[in-house]
Order: sequence, then structure tokens, then C-alpha cells
Amino acid sequence: MFKDGLLKGKRILITGGGTGLGKEIATKYLQLGAEVWIAGRRGSILEQTARGLIKSHGGKVGTHAVDIRDAQAVDAMVQRIWDEAGPLTGLVNNAAGNFISPTKDLTPNGFNAIANIVFHGTFYVTQAVGKRWIAGGHKGSVISILVTWVWTGSPYVVPSAMSKAGVHVMTKSLAVEWGRHGIRLNAIAPGPFPTEGAGKRLRPDSGKFEDSTQTNPMRRVGEMPELQNLAAFLMADGCEFLTGETIAIDGGGYLANGGSFTELDKLSDADWERMRALIKAQNDKDRAGRST
Ligand code: HXC
Repeated sequence: MFKDGLLKGKRILITGGGTGLGKEIATKYLQLGAEVWIAGRRGSILEQTARGLIKSHGGKVGTHAVDIRDAQAVDAMVQRIWDEAGPLTGLVNNAAGNFISPTKDLTPNGFNAIANIVFHGTFYVTQAVGKRWIAGGHKGSVISILVTWVWTGSPYVVPSAMSKAGVHVMTKSLAVEWGRHGIRLNAIAPGPFPTEGAGKRLRPDSGKFEDSTQTNPMRRVGEMPELQNLAAFLMADGCEFLTGETIAIDGGGYLANGGSFTELDKLSDADWERMRALIKAQNDKDRAGRST
């Protein structure tokens, strides 16, 4: 779809780039010639991903272990990239956290676990990068990975829906505030693109999103190259007048069906107990691999 070397000369930070959608986007950018930096909470996973990417595609992949909930650690990471490699040209806000839960059962900590990553953390990274672009007179491009719930809302994932809606508004606001500096901000709202992190927390019983294929107008889930291509298009030069937009890539799913997860209405208290245990097991497994 794209010419070789489309992203040559770009230096792009992808949060949550060690796994899932972030890793897929990092792969595409590297294939198109960009220098890529991946950040996440698990240093060992980042290293493993970086080694695999370089082995398969060559190029340069930097890593930085960070929890984006920590504003100071975020600023130190961005300063390190500037010092060691030079100014970034692009940022992908991909890191997120989410799990399904009846909202009435959420604790303040449960709400904050999501809001601190998605709402606060995304702001910290965007601001740390954007202020350096403005100070240095550099252009830049930010892509945030959102979800179609920013338009529809969604039951059972309320902290995520609220936080992603906030980032949607940040995208529009900063497109205006930072437009005169040559900084553009856009967002992608993917429908179901199955990844392990999302499957284990949003479909803890089956781990699969195949149920949504019954109701999606295209009768399927998303294919990763489709998302990679959109992320490459938005990061490439040639369409810079495009800013402040959130683009859905969901086969028309949200237009046809509105929000996701309405079907969870039928779960009993016992079902929810079981779901919580499955999600907790996945969280414990992930935490064991974290270095921060
Ligand atoms: C109720 C829960 C819960 C659950 C956690 N909590 N899981 N509450 N039901 N299933 C509560 C805990 O009880 C605790 O509150 C609080 O949340 C913090 O939990 P921790 O496990 O200590 O948090 P932490 O280790 O910081 O983990 C953060 C996390 C975790 C967000 C909870 O899921 C995570 O690290 N996720 C990262 C990856 C991820 O989520 N990927 C999916 C993204 S999908 P108390 O009060 O007990 O202390 C996505 C959109 C997909 O973003 C869209 C698809 C269409």
C-alpha cells in the first residue's frame, strides 16, 4: 500500500509498544523506515519485542520502561530520548488499561487504575512531547488509540469510556491550540482487533471477539494490517491538513450497533464473580513481568 521508506527520517514513540496493537504499529513503522521507541511497564517484554523486531526488520528500536501514570517518569523518558537520539517526530498514545465490571461494584482504586493510565497518562506523555516540539520549533504528529465508545459511551467499561472520551476532546482541543506550531493530533477508534491484553480483560471467559462478527456489518473482526495501514497514513507526510479527527475503523460496527457490551446485561452475580477471578489472574500474570 505504501512506498518503501515512507517514514524514513521519522522518530516515533509508541506507548504500550511491547505488546498488542502498539507492537503491531511499531512493526509497521519500522518496516517503513522509521526509528521506533517503545515504552511500557514491563522492561523484559520491551527488550524481547525490540530484539524480535530488529531481527525481522533491521533498523533502530529503543526501549524505555515506564508507568505513564507517573508524570515525572514520563518527562524523564522523553528527555532521555531527546538527549540520546534527538527530537521525536511522532507519538502514538497507545498504552491503556481496561476491564469489564458492573460500574456499581467499582472501587475508587479500580476507577483510578484505568483513568490514571488512559486519561492522566496520555496527557502527561502528550504534554511532555508537545512542549519540547514547541520549544524547539519542531513539527510533530500525535495519534491516540481510542475506541468508538467516545461517541456512543459503553456499559461495563465506564472508566475507559470516560477516559478515552477525554482524550478525544484533547485531540480536538490541541489540534487547534498547537496547529500554528505545525503539530497535528488525530486519533484512531478501532472496533474489535483481537489482542491478548484486550481479550483476557474484555472477554475473560472466551478470550475471543468472534461473537461480534454476528452483528458487524462486515461480519468479521478487524485485521491487523488494516489498522497498521491507517496508523502509517496518519503518521506519514502528505496529508498534514488533516488534524483534530478521530477516525473509526470498525467495519461500520458502531453505526449499526451503538456501544459494545450491552449483552453483558444478562450476566448473573455469579458470572461476574467468575469474570473478576479470570481478569485478576491475567493482571497477576502481567504484574509478575513488570520491572517498574
Ligand atoms: C473490578 C478490578 C478488576 C475487575 C482490577 N480491579 N481488575 N475491579 N473488576 N476485573 C481493581 C482492583 O481490585 C484494584 O482496586 C484496582 O483495580 C487496581 O488493580 P491492580 O490490579 O492493582 O492494578 P494494576 O496492577 O495497576 O493494573 C492496571 C489494570 C490492568 C488496568 C487493572 O488491567 C492492566 O494493567 N491493564 C493493562 C493492559 C490492558 O488492560 N489491556 C486492555 C486494554 S483494552 P482495589 O480497590 O481492590 O485496590 C482497551 C480498549 C479495547 O483499552 C477496546 C476493544 C473494542
